[in-house]
Amino acid sequence: MQKLQAEIRSCVGKKPKVGTNDIAKLTYLKMVVKETLRMHPAGPLLIPRETIQQCKIGGNNGYTIYPKTRVLVNVYAIGRDPNNWKNPHVFYPERFEDNNIDFKGNHFELLPFGAGRRICPGLAMAIGTIEFTLANLLYCFDWELPGGMKREDMSMEEQGGITIHKKTPLQLVPIKYNCQVLLAAVILGEDKFPSSSVLCFVSSTVII
Ligand code: HEM
Repeated sequence: MQKLQAEIRSCVGKKPKVGTNDIAKLTYLKMVVKETLRMHPAGPLLIPRETIQQCKIGGNNGYTIYPKTRVLVNVYAIGRDPNNWKNPHVFYPERFEDNNIDFKGNHFELLPFGAGRRICPGLAMAIGTIEFTLANLLYCFDWELPGGMKREDMSMEEQGGITIHKKTPLQLVPIKYNCQVLLAAVILGEDKFPSSSVLCFVSSTVII
């Protein structure tokens, strides 16, 4: 988190908040979002497909899939497959440093938005919103765990379903960062958002 905050703060300088034009320069932010979606895709299974013709997957010892078979693509498992990823259960955004893997449906090892004709039409909106919101939250505040809680105590367990989210909501204490005008102050009015307040994010994409 500190590495990402350092990138954002050095890039944005003394402006009151991160602007949309700043986002393109934030390369580590993009890696963090990719890594989050690799480990915690919002939808673990893609929309069901039905095969039109017979095909074989997994080489000679693999599987024959017959026509009109309903296929569920498990992107959660693909994102944590050790054949695709080194140390797949470790959150390590730097793994995207030396490659051009993205989530636009061209790289089958990373499919949080699906692929092909049924790929998520909200992809651009989703990524734009996530990057912009996250950048501003990390720019305007430092974040601490409440009540002496330690990082190891934080549960990353997920609640299954069509979409997955954190089983235990994340609670964090925002500490104002000394930029001139705070985003929270702009949105809510400073008096309604004291630094001791505890924010609860019920989200599947969590970075700490
Ligand atoms: C982090 C945010 C999001 C994620 C991870 C996500 C992921 C997905 C996935 C995995 C699919 C199935 C794709 C497939 O089976 O190949 C999908 C479908 C879809 N998504 Fe998203 N989505 C997100 C945000 C959005 C937003 C913001 C919108 C709309 C504004 C949206 C609208 C849709 C629609 C309409 C479909 C169905 C497309 C179809 O069946 O043809 N999604 N999304």
